[in-house]
Amino acid sequence: MTNFKTISHIIEPQLVVEGAGVLLRRSVSPRASNEHDPFLLFDHFAFNNPLEGPLRGFPMHPHRGIETVTYILDGSVNHRDSLGNAGVIGPGDVQWMTSGRGILHEEMPRRGESGNIYGFQLWVNLPAAQKMGQPRYQEVNSSTIPTIEKDGATIRLVAGELDGIRGPVTEIAASPLYLDVKLAPGSKFIYPIPSGYTALAYVFEGAGEFANEVVESVSMVVFNRDGDQLEVKSDSGVRFMLIAGAPFKEPIVPYGPFVMNTAEEIQQTIADLRNGTFIK
Ligand code: FE2
Repeated sequence: MTNFKTISHIIEPQLVVEGAGVLLRRSVSPRASNEHDPFLLFDHFAFNNPLEGPLRGFPMHPHRGIETVTYILDGSVNHRDSLGNAGVIGPGDVQWMTSGRGILHEEMPRRGESGNIYGFQLWVNLPAAQKMGQPRYQEVNSSTIPTIEKDGATIRLVAGELDGIRGPVTEIAASPLYLDVKLAPGSKFIYPIPSGYTALAYVFEGAGEFANEVVESVSMVVFNRDGDQLEVKSDSGVRFMLIAGAPFKEPIVPYGPFVMNTAEEIQQTIADLRNGTFIK
């Protein structure tokens, strides 16, 4: 029997200033309550009107204990890191970074031809056993992300599976589902998400009916964990990022760009940064 998911609550993104003065819409942030386990943070950066801001970006900063997935829709982000990697993430591209025990990186947004910058950064937790693993960095070119057209839905499959097709981001410890879904006016989208998973939908264009409730952009929809099918309909068209994954069910202690399991591990992280043993 089909058991449709229901909405738990809707989060209105808050404007926050991060990095060297970048204005972001933040809907999920790392908290000890870990209610979106295994997801820690979701930021939406948009420098186009009305969020016009100086392009100071995110100068060199450390991370430990997390993975980040950056998805750019317009403009680009120049990056470099302590592993010696450097590159540009352009429109439609994805970059995922596994900080493991420690990485230092710089992320600097640039405007595209339209004059805009638009994208998302998702933080995914690492399980305790992998928090002190090797850092890794990978870029996924837009051309390798499958686009599936189905009954009025255009789905870019960043991570996860649809109709036997797998998205290119496959090595995130939490094995998350991460889809960019655009529904044409008058269309419907049904997607299986196992019961027990955390499921979120970040609605960033238009409006739709999510689990029979009307949701307008820009909003983060948090679904209840029961139910195993997600249903979205739209009369006027809608676009959203669908994010889902199985919780790790481990305690977390977040501290800025670090997310560990205990306060002692955070103290050790700060000590490592102070005495130069953070990057090995
Ligand atoms: Fe970062």
